[in-house]
Amino acid sequence: MDEALFEYDSVSICNNGQGLKILDQTKLPNEEVFIILQNEDDFTDAITSLKVRGAPAIGIAAAYGISILMYNSGIKSIKDYRSEFTKIKKLLLNTRPTAVNLLNALNRMEYRFFQILKDKDVTIEEINQKLQEEAELIKCEDIDSNIKIADNAITLLKPSMSILTHCNAGHLAVSRFGTALAPIYLAKSKGWNIKVYSCETRPLLQGARLTSFELMRAGIDVTLLCDNMVSSLMSEGKIDAVITGCDRIARNGDTANKIGTSSIAVLASYYKIPFYVAGPSTTIDNDSLTGDSFVIEQRSPEEITEMWYSVRMAPKNIKVYNPAFDVTKSQLISAIITEKGVFKYPYNF
Ligand code: MRU
Repeated sequence: MDEALFEYDSVSICNNGQGLKILDQTKLPNEEVFIILQNEDDFTDAITSLKVRGAPAIGIAAAYGISILMYNSGIKSIKDYRSEFTKIKKLLLNTRPTAVNLLNALNRMEYRFFQILKDKDVTIEEINQKLQEEAELIKCEDIDSNIKIADNAITLLKPSMSILTHCNAGHLAVSRFGTALAPIYLAKSKGWNIKVYSCETRPLLQGARLTSFELMRAGIDVTLLCDNMVSSLMSEGKIDAVITGCDRIARNGDTANKIGTSSIAVLASYYKIPFYVAGPSTTIDNDSLTGDSFVIEQRSPEEITEMWYSVRMAPKNIKVYNPAFDVTKSQLISAIITEKGVFKYPYNF
């Protein structure tokens, strides 16, 4: 993988462990603004308003978040530290419900915290240090997973293919490289001529604002289309494969991803185009047998009726349906690619 494709990590620790530097994704593609998260409001607002977004990036931000907030709390007694830790974990967990990486990262931080506490002589300074190291480890493992996802996923691709993707599962959605876009970056560094079609991704336009931005920046041939143009594009024979990211994968392979993903999977099945999902194993929800039990985030009606428009585009008080994710049935997924390999239906991770 060519590291030179990226000038920065989307999420990184700063200010001697007292802040988290993120690229504010709500400002893209027009402005590249970095902000520093330091207090509870900074973290909860950044995650809920999608300044930092994408399942792995949310998990990494929350892991750093709990370590930074504990450090900045200045708490001196272990008893108070314990109750503050539990409070912050709950606060961060409540920011977004669907991406399981958030839960997995926070559970891992808690597990590490309990391990550290087994040393009865441990100091608050040592706890802070070890929690920060754990968050760093989560980020490093994510980068490593993305490299392996690229290696595994590229075995399903060929030079000169045209790939359709939805939402943003690239460098911006993780810490470095991406999941669905990682094999595209790897293909680029091998000199392959992959062409990408990026769905706009209503209502928050992650495809238009983020995927188009980061692929163009990396010199990859990318074409933008509205979400309702996919059938037309596929019927013209212009798509060889679909690759998307994922927010939660059930044990049977049912996959939650950005709203609109399941329609693309249905269309891909109709047009006999392979439909691939790429993500780290931290996106697997071992507690869910199928996707039926997934909690789907519902977002504000204004994202549909007003946002992006100079004047409101729907009658006042119109009822609005705005789920942020949908679930693609495992039978529609040709393969799920993780850092551990390429899995095919029936799924057994
Ligand atoms: O609401 P978002 O922008 O956080 O949704 C993101 C997605 O649906 C991505 O496809 C998914 O998180 C995979 S990111 C590697």
